[in-house]
Order: sequence, then C-alpha cells, then structure tokens
Amino acid sequence: MNPTTFVLFGATGDLAKRKIYPALYHLYIHGKLPASFSVIGLGRKELNDETFRAHVQQSLHDFYRLEVQEGDTLQAFLGLFGFHVLHIDRGEHFVQLKERVERWEKEQEGAANRLFYLSVAPDFFGTVASQIEQSGLGSVTGWKRLVIEKPFGHDLASARELDSQLSQAFTEDEIYRIDHYLGKPMVQRLEALKQANPVIQALWTSRYIANVQITADETVGVEDRAGYYDKAGAIRDMFQNHMLQLLMMLSIHVSNSNATAEDIRLKKKNVLEALEPLARQDVHTRIVRGQYTAGSIQGKPVPGYTSEPGISPDSTNDTFIAAKLNIDNYYWRGVPFYIRTGKRLKSKNTRIVIEFKEPLRSSASAEDSSVPNLLVFEIGPNEGITLQLNTKDPHHKGEFKPVHIDMFPDRAEAQEAYETLIHDALNGDSTFFVHSDEVDLSWQWVQPILEAFEAGEVPLYPYPAGSHGPEAANELLAQDGFHWWFDE
Ligand code: BG6
Repeated sequence: MNPTTFVLFGATGDLAKRKIYPALYHLYIHGKLPASFSVIGLGRKELNDETFRAHVQQSLHDFYRLEVQEGDTLQAFLGLFGFHVLHIDRGEHFVQLKERVERWEKEQEGAANRLFYLSVAPDFFGTVASQIEQSGLGSVTGWKRLVIEKPFGHDLASARELDSQLSQAFTEDEIYRIDHYLGKPMVQRLEALKQANPVIQALWTSRYIANVQITADETVGVEDRAGYYDKAGAIRDMFQNHMLQLLMMLSIHVSNSNATAEDIRLKKKNVLEALEPLARQDVHTRIVRGQYTAGSIQGKPVPGYTSEPGISPDSTNDTFIAAKLNIDNYYWRGVPFYIRTGKRLKSKNTRIVIEFKEPLRSSASAEDSSVPNLLVFEIGPNEGITLQLNTKDPHHKGEFKPVHIDMFPDRAEAQEAYETLIHDALNGDSTFFVHSDEVDLSWQWVQPILEAFEAGEVPLYPYPAGSHGPEAANELLAQDGFHWWFDE
C-alpha cells in the first residue's frame, strides 16, 4: 500500500475549511482516499495536532453539505491529520517538515507519494515551489504532484513568470491547476453527453447552431475581497478562466468514449488557438464593460460598487463583462459565442444556451409562431438540461407551441467540485485540470482587452444592482439579430 501524504499549505485558511476538509471527509467516508494516507496541515499559527484536529472537526460541522456522523469513523478520519508550524520564507522549516514526512513514510510500506496543495495567496506559489525543491521535500520515491488554484498570474507576462517558477520544481504533468468550474457536475456531464450521443455530436456545428450564449450571473457583490477584486475585475476573476473554460468544454468535439486527458486538453488548446484574435483597437466593439451602481437584490437595497468597503470612490474597475467571440475552425466558423458574467445581477445563474437555426423561418409567413430550438445546460445553482421544441395541437390547426423536455439529474449523486477534483488529483487524472497551454493562450487572448481597459479605450457602463447588466450587453446580440434568452 503506497503511502500518500497530503501536504496542505494554508491549512487554517478559508478555502481549507470551506472546501478542502469537507471534500476529504466525503472521500474518506466513501472509501475513496488511499488506504495509507495522512494530511499535514501547514501554517504560521501555533497549532498542534490536537488543536488542528479540533479545527478540522469544526470545519466539517460548519461546511460539510450533509450531516457529520460522530463516532469512530470521524475519529479515524481526524486521526489522519497533523499540524506543522511553517513560515514560507524559512528554509529550515521545510527541512523539518521533510523529516517529519519521511518518518511517517518509513512506518509504511511501498513507494511514497506526496501531494502538495497550495491553498495560499498566489504571490507565494513561486517561493513555496522553490523551497520544496531546495529542502529535498520534492525528492520522492513514488510520485509528487502540485495542486494550485487560480489566479494563475494577472496578465500574460506574470502568468509566464509563474509558470517558469513552478517548472523549476515540478514538470507540467505533475501540476494540477484547479478551475473549480471544471469540477462542476454539469460541466463534466457536458463532456459525456457529447462523447456518447451521436444525436448531439451531429448537431454540434455551424450548420445547425445559430449562436451560443454562456452566462454566469451572480447576486453577490465584491464581498470582503476588495483588495483582490478591485485589481482583478470581472475580466480576470471570471472571464479569463471560468468563462473561457466553459467555452472550451462546450465547443470541443470528442467522439471517442476512450478519450484520454491528453486528447481532451489538446482539443481545448485547439479551440483557444482558433479563437479569432481581438486587436486592441477593436476591443470596444466586442467587449462590454460594466460596473454596478446602487440598487436592490431580491427586494434588499445594496450599495453601488464604489461605495463598498475598501473600494475607492473613483474606482473604474469592471464588475461585469459581456463579450462576443468567434471560433475560426471547421465546426464553428460563423457562430457567435456570447459570454457574460457579472456581480450584483438579478439572480444567481450559470447556464449555457445553444440556439439552433430556424429552418422554418426562411419559408415562413409573418405569422409563423415557431420558436428556435434551444438546448439549455443549467450549471448552477440548480442543474438541468432542457430541450425546447415546437409542436402543434393536432386538434386545433394553427399556432406552434413550444414544448420542453427537461432532465434534472439526481442531486444526491452529484459530487461537489472539490470532491471530484481532489479525488482526480490523487489518482493522477488531469482531464478536468487546466494545462499551462490553456493558461497561456487564454491570457494571450485577453491581453489586448486588459490593455484597452487600462488605456481607458472601452466605456465603463453603469448598471443598477439587481438588473441584467448594462443595455450595451443586449445590443451586442441585437446587432446580430439575437437576444439573451431567459432575461425575464
Ligand atoms: C470564483 C471567483 O472563482 O468564482 C468569485 O473568484 C466568484 O468572484 C466565484 O464568486 C463563482 O463561483 P460559483 O461556483 O459560485 O459560480
């Protein structure tokens, strides 16, 4: 039984308690963790094994999505955890950590694996990677892997710099970059639906599809992340990563059910390479930038962005982005992909709408009442797939009526994104992780937008909290004869 140590940097942080401990617990009670497993939590706080276990237990009570059963199983789970005080800039702390990990590994049998999970601010990624290398912690008898989360840089140059720092200690196939949207069950289902259904594969081209709409609306505002968000904006926080990942996952064609992680990642890379580049002088024609003003969300008044704590009253940061993209390849040439995402919008909703062409329309009379076929993937907070078709009541000749075929997957079966992703990382399955090529190509595409924003070349449209965003986002589609679906 090869022992695996889960080395967690930032063990007392927010992500660890909200996501990582509940996910590990879920995997443990379902028998999905390696048989010989230990977690070493790292941080500056003076915790010991006992106080750390109490912290983990509290996190489960606060954040695990189901009820936590007290008893032997829970105690056995907590027994996997130990704490080690570590200052990231102190080389000797890494050496002590290595000795501790080695002591545990020696008590086990087999080649020892180490998974390093960096739940710390990205500014520390480079330092931690080089300390792992220099201390010898990165020399393993089994495998070693590094798990990190976005942001991967704040522009093209810094993303490349980060990549070169990481590559001194880890090879590309040892690095697991998390984009939690790739862990969402519906995003993963999307893959299977296309792989296993010829009926979907056959339709997945510009011959039948008129446009694709990808929306990620949020009702929350900047929350308590002013320092980070005011420098990132919706373009870096959501668009460069989550939204472009959704675009890739939707638009790739994978017809082989044995497709490997490499196959899928290569196809995703091909999509990014086929994205029609956006020159800086054209940014204002394809990108709509907005910022929320005071308004109300579900009847509750909320302040405007520039009145939020920690945000400067003259901030010109974006809290909303809408964009039109074209994929210039055989399948998608001529199909616009519209993307929008923003904070303080009317409702929380992540969905993809595929609008099909209307064969009836060309021959139809003015009173044609058919609607386009739509295939809708609801990604969150609720999951579902809906197909909108036209029908007529056979007894009454006349108007077409839309009918909907709905599928709502069983929630109980669905795993949380972190449960799936941590499990995959432990098993060496990189399908739903971000390759460095994707990071690089997505920043390349976004870089002219950042520059145009920086130079003030793109208007910043105000939109009231609780709305669907600025009117200009509607015009982006209207000029092509389309509209956003489901904006009622
Ligand atoms: C995060 C962003 O990556 O994704 C947040 O930093 C955003 O600003 C969040 O709120 C949205 O995730 P989800 O899963 O709630 O759609």
